[in-house]
Amino acid sequence: MIRTILHYPDKRLREPGLKVEAITPAIKALVDDMAETMYAAPGVGLAATQIGELLQIFVIDIAAEDEPSRLQVFINPEILSTEGEVCWKEGCLSFPGATEEVERAAKVRVRAQDRDGKWFELEAEDLLAVAIQHENDHLQGRLMIDHLGPLKKRLLHRKMQKRADAQPTP
Ligand code: NI
Repeated sequence: MIRTILHYPDKRLREPGLKVEAITPAIKALVDDMAETMYAAPGVGLAATQIGELLQIFVIDIAAEDEPSRLQVFINPEILSTEGEVCWKEGCLSFPGATEEVERAAKVRVRAQDRDGKWFELEAEDLLAVAIQHENDHLQGRLMIDHLGPLKKRLLHRKMQKRADAQPTP
């Protein structure tokens, strides 16, 4: 089922996700909804907190349009280490129409559970590393806008506020 994606400045985006204690059928159904919602948007990543589910889950698919889809599910993720620095033009499904340059680590090592609850470790770089950091931020209630300098922050806030005023939140 396609879920409604919350848009900034919706305050629910500031709520952190809670640890997933058990991989129940309900959790698996949520993961499936998240993937469906992400693909429909379309986007390269979606965190549970973006659809108002306060749980430590995000999904990512960085496959290009002409490549087969490659869904990656991260439950209870933990970034173990980071390396280097990279500046990336990021978008976010909670900031429709906005792209901003954000500084991130160039490489990350992450540990998480997959859709079956199995733990895995992954080393990522470039777009995947950026996406992991972006989505992991969501699970702490941290957003793309928090990484911007004061001027860009104010401009983006104003733009999103105007958009929200024009179309009331569902
Ligand atoms: Ni986002």
